[in-house]
Amino acid sequence: MLDQLLSDLGLARPLDEAQRARLLAAAAQRRCLRPVLVELAAEGAPVDDELAAVQRLRELAAIDADSVATTLADAGVRARTLPLGVEDELLRLVRLKLPDVSAASHAIDVLEADGMRRWGPTGAGAWRSYRRSHGRVTLTRLDDRPTRVELVWRDEPTPRQGLLGRLQRLLTPGQADFDAVALPGFLWPLYLLVRPVRLVLTKLGLRRGATPGDDLGPYLATPVGLTSAFVDQAGIVASDLVVDLGCGDGRLLVDAVTRHGCRGRGIERERGLVDLARRNVERAGLADRIEIVHADAASAPLGDVDVVLVFLPAEVVARLVGPLLARLRPGTRVLAHEQAELVAQPAPQHSTLLVTDDGVTVVHEWRA
Ligand SMILES: C[S@@+](CC[C@H](N)C(=O)[O-])C[C@H]1O[C@@H](n2cnc3c(N)ncnc32)[C@H](O)[C@@H]1O
Repeated sequence: MLDQLLSDLGLARPLDEAQRARLLAAAAQRRCLRPVLVELAAEGAPVDDELAAVQRLRELAAIDADSVATTLADAGVRARTLPLGVEDELLRLVRLKLPDVSAASHAIDVLEADGMRRWGPTGAGAWRSYRRSHGRVTLTRLDDRPTRVELVWRDEPTPRQGLLGRLQRLLTPGQADFDAVALPGFLWPLYLLVRPVRLVLTKLGLRRGATPGDDLGPYLATPVGLTSAFVDQAGIVASDLVVDLGCGDGRLLVDAVTRHGCRGRGIERERGLVDLARRNVERAGLADRIEIVHADAASAPLGDVDVVLVFLPAEVVARLVGPLLARLRPGTRVLAHEQAELVAQPAPQHSTLLVTDDGVTVVHEWRA
């Protein structure tokens, strides 16, 4: 595996520090970090710290899985723990299969009572519609632990091709539809109509977006233990203006401004998250240093910015980074962290592996 990866990356032994960093980042992205570390260790390479961290993550993932399974079993929920690839364990992920949607709903109630939060629509009608049209949901802890639980109650069907597939995609309601109108539970079938009506009105310019821009990705916070490690890769100085595109609860900016004395601006499209981020900024006493803007990350003005932080799905970053660099002043740094493989154009100038007890991620850096 190591030889294959070296040859794919055009690297040859002996590796210098920068090449070793590139190799480990690529191994994490291609989901073969652990075997590559084991092979490197066997060759006498200095990877003890990384190996120990990865081993610790595997142990923590096993503890997470046990604790979630016990909580559900105690509440009488029948759930089967789905096996994870070794590299999924490094994400502190627990994946469980439920026999049907009502068992899944029960499991969600139990986990929410145990301090987890379900991502996705909040309204009763939207949630019923979501359960009908989707087959899985993710929960994360409200406290600082990074455990992520994925409940699966139906295998996602292979997307249909052709006209039928297009029609299906057109009619399947998504987050923007759930945000657009809150229907009571008994009216949830009307969500089938909300989507086409919303799309037509938006196209005709008759609906000014209560929620700006397209949904670039769901809210999934950077795990606490990775936050400072990620921010520190940006080489931030006190005179910098740092922007987080899709700032969620504002944690990256609070961390950056608290520790580096810079200024921050968060761009976020979800109204509830804008309010949450503003509350977190106030609580940290940083309201004069950080502004949270309810706007579209894909079009917000960025001409005055020094550092851009991004945590969005890899395929979105790949699509966004070219146009993003064109919107920035020369010299502005863009840093994205990703757990999935990122194939972006232009390619990042640096990619660095980060491993902490909260998970594994790879930080990519570009300069405008
Ligand atoms: C993966 S979360 C990252 C949150 C935060 N940056 C962090 O690292 O903890 C992605 C965030 O982007 C937001 N988002 C998605 N599309 C957006 C858009 N078009 N404009 C602004 N924010 C967007 C989501 O609501 C979500 O909060």
